[in-house]
This record gives sequence, C-alpha cells and structure tokens, in this order.
Amino acid sequence: MRIIRNIRQMSFLARKLRLQGKTIGLVPTMGALHRGHLSLIRKARKENDIVVASIFVNPAQFGPKDDFKKYPRHFSQDVRLCKASGVDIIFYPQAIRMYPGNYKTYVDVGELGGLLCGRFRPGHFRGVATVVTKLFNIIVPHIAYFGQKDAQQAVIIEKIVDDLNIPVRIKIMPTVREEDGLAMSSRNAYLNQRERSDAVVLSRALNLAKNLIAQGNRNPTSIIRKMRQLIHKNKTARVQYISIVNLRDLKPLDRISGKALIALAVLIGKVRLIDNMIIDPNKRN
Ligand code: PAJ
Repeated sequence: MRIIRNIRQMSFLARKLRLQGKTIGLVPTMGALHRGHLSLIRKARKENDIVVASIFVNPAQFGPKDDFKKYPRHFSQDVRLCKASGVDIIFYPQAIRMYPGNYKTYVDVGELGGLLCGRFRPGHFRGVATVVTKLFNIIVPHIAYFGQKDAQQAVIIEKIVDDLNIPVRIKIMPTVREEDGLAMSSRNAYLNQRERSDAVVLSRALNLAKNLIAQGNRNPTSIIRKMRQLIHKNKTARVQYISIVNLRDLKPLDRISGKALIALAVLIGKVRLIDNMIIDPNKRN
C-alpha cells in the first residue's frame, strides 16, 4: 500500500494506471475510519483493480462554528485499517495544497445545498461538492463509493456528476449501524455514556415512521409529529429537523405516495447526529 500526499504524483499515477487498463475505485473519506467506511472500501476492493481511499478533513465543508479543529484524526490507525481492507493507495493531501492562498473556484449546487442539513450548515455542501469534484479530477476513478448515511450528500454528488458530465459511476452503499441501530459515525466518539444510549433514538424514530407508514399513515405532518415526540422523551435530545422528502429534489412531500426519504438531524447534547431511511409504501420492506 502506498501513501501519496503530493497531488501531481497522485494524478500522474492514476492516469498511468488507467493507461495500463486498470480500473480505479475511489472511496473519499475524512479519516477516523469505522466499519461504515470499511464497507465502502470492501465493496471497492471487490469491483476494481486499484482501490484509492482519500483521507482529507476538508476545511471548505466546515462552518466557522463547526468542529474542523476538533474533528477526530487517527491517521496511523486509518493506515492500518486501510491496509487490512485491501486499499492500494491512500491519498492524503495537505489542505494548503488543495486550497492554496490564491484558491478561487467552488462548485455551487444551487438549492439542493440549502435544504435539509444545508439550512443549518450554510456552505457545507458547496465545500463537499468542491472537494469531491477535485478528487474526481485528481484520481479519475471509474467508480466512486459513498454511504447512504449521508443521504443529501449522495443526492448532491449524483447531481454534480450528471450536471457536469463527469465520467465516473457513483455507487451508494447502505448505512452500517451499531448493534442497537445507531448509524456509525466518526462523531459518535464525542458522545458520553448517557448521550450514547440516548442516541439510539434517531434510528428508533425512523423505525417508528416505517411502522406508521406500514399501517397506512401517509401524512408526513402526523408522522413527523410522532417522531418528534418520541425523540424528545430523551432529555439530552433536541430535534434540529425531521423531513419527509422527494428523493430527487429533496423537497418536502405533502403526502407519501411513492418512494420517500425520511431524514433527520438531532442534537444529542452538543453532538449533531444525522440519520435517514428510504421507504417505499408500495413495497414491503
Ligand atoms: P466521511 O464522513 O468520512 O464519510 C466518508 C464516506 O463514508 C461517506 O460517503 C459517508 O456517507 C460514508 N459513511 C459514513 N458513515 C457511514 C455508515 N455508517 N455507513 C455507510 N457509509 C458511511 O462524507 C464525508 O466524509 C465527506 O463529506 C467527503 C465525502 C469525504 C468529502 O469531504
């Protein structure tokens, strides 16, 4: 396994590998790897000759009050995990090289970036869109792997690739969860014991919604109210948003008639957690 920090070196090697007929799978990450990330890496390992995992805590996607400085960094452990999961190349660029002093260009994702999480994290998806586009240009992957855990991010990346004609296939992999249902996230490490046990309420609320829909409830307002009530039974939990939206444009649904995305963000103490579920009332899940 190689670790490459230099952007030109990465770009040169990726193009050389393509010329040799090798397929490249890319798994973009911000490090602090857990089983969620590793599931993407394993899928990439199965489907490509070369697996590149990028590790880059992207300053452009953090707001001024966000946790950029505090964001967990466990590089030597990440290296071990990547090696054990069959990564060929870790791309580990420096922020000052990705965004030098004269950096100017950003990918604007329009209103998709202002909905759901975007309402509470202005500029976040612009930062994600920009870094992912840069990674696609540097690494020229055939396939790039993302997690359903970040549903809005997944929708936005599919849109960028489509709108900007970027020749890469996007694959979205299922959310990996802890045994009690909590979606795995690098931010779970911030939770104290009490908060950790309360945090399970995100997935519980999603399961409640699923059951209500299975029983015939098609009314987002009523479902969201019941989810909110369940969540607020926990003292450490405060709902930031719960939305039931169309999967393509992320706009709220008046009534659930086909596939829908149920997404929520909840503050558990000071830790902001997100989760989501795609439901199809016309299919048995
Ligand atoms: P990060 O939070 O490190 O996540 C990297 C990838 O792992 C994302 O595609 C995310 O959706 C996926 N992932 C995280 N938790 C998961 C889980 N429990 N199950 C399945 N997949 C999971 O998302 C980012 O980094 C950044 O925004 C990035 C795309 C790297 C751009 O900076």
